[in-house]
Amino acid sequence: MGFVLKRLSQKNSWNKLFKQRLTEPFHLNFMAIFVLLFGSFRKKVAYDLVVRPQHAFGILHAADQAKLRGLSEITIIEFGVANGAGLMNMIAIAEKVTKITGIKIHIYGFDTGTGMPEPKDYRDHPEYYNTGDFPMNKDLLEEKIKGKATIIYGPIKANISKFLSSISEANPIGFVTIDVDYYSSTKDVLELFKFEATLFLPLTFVYLDDIFMPHHNSKCGELLAIEEFNAEEAMREISYHRFFENQRIFRNANWVKQLYYFHVLDHPYRSELKRDRKAYVLDNPYLKFEGNKKQFN
Ligand SMILES: C[S@@+](CC[C@H](N)C(=O)[O-])C[C@H]1O[C@@H](n2cnc3c(N)ncnc32)[C@H](O)[C@@H]1O
Repeated sequence: MGFVLKRLSQKNSWNKLFKQRLTEPFHLNFMAIFVLLFGSFRKKVAYDLVVRPQHAFGILHAADQAKLRGLSEITIIEFGVANGAGLMNMIAIAEKVTKITGIKIHIYGFDTGTGMPEPKDYRDHPEYYNTGDFPMNKDLLEEKIKGKATIIYGPIKANISKFLSSISEANPIGFVTIDVDYYSSTKDVLELFKFEATLFLPLTFVYLDDIFMPHHNSKCGELLAIEEFNAEEAMREISYHRFFENQRIFRNANWVKQLYYFHVLDHPYRSELKRDRKAYVLDNPYLKFEGNKKQFN
């Protein structure tokens, strides 16, 4: 209860509650009360009742996908850690996801360790972010995450290719959150998305944190970096799935518009012919034939 009151004392939480949650249909919010009290973790994810629902969705669905593919481990990454609230949230969610799916989850964070680097030009939104913003209490954070997550310190550009040795086909990347604010830093992050196809799930979830403020646009910041990546990489695509919000119970939350899909078109799974299954047959309610389930009379 104390936690709920503390959260509600923050302006951002009121905004989320009034502008995003309470604008949803009453009956859905009413049902959510029961889910909050009695629901399983999976149901709570479906009803956006987990703190940072973007992490909960991304991690749970990546683990589900891995399981379907016969894998037992995945890797998840946060780019831009700062004081670690996001990373610690990912650790807490991953523990729950492991419990219900059996999938082991390796967690990594990337950060300078000293706050934001120097912005390069207008594309880095210097009107919003400043050199040295978001410093880190390194020792305190390291003590808390010991054995649960690994933070790779330094400029992302210098560390990204070395990171290749930390992952393999047996523990592919399934969820990435990009919270580095700048265009230039996002460009460095996107080098990861050019790695070997099998180091990812064929559909990997990507959360873009810095695309929702008024000055954010596709000629600056994270969105510009994504557009350039898509233009350059013929077999890779990071895009918003236009039906994603239709698959959610609650659709007004910002995160629903910030959760992107990374399509790994050169992943072997995307070219596998499924010859070993029975052919799909479509019903026709106007016709009578054996196996036709839908009929008008
Ligand atoms: C907004 S903060 C991250 C907040 C964090 N995700 C959270 O949820 O609490 C952005 C972080 O990105 C890091 N960052 C930005 N550009 C970077 C770069 N090129 N290399 C490494 N870290 C970078 C900064 O050090 C800063 O801590």
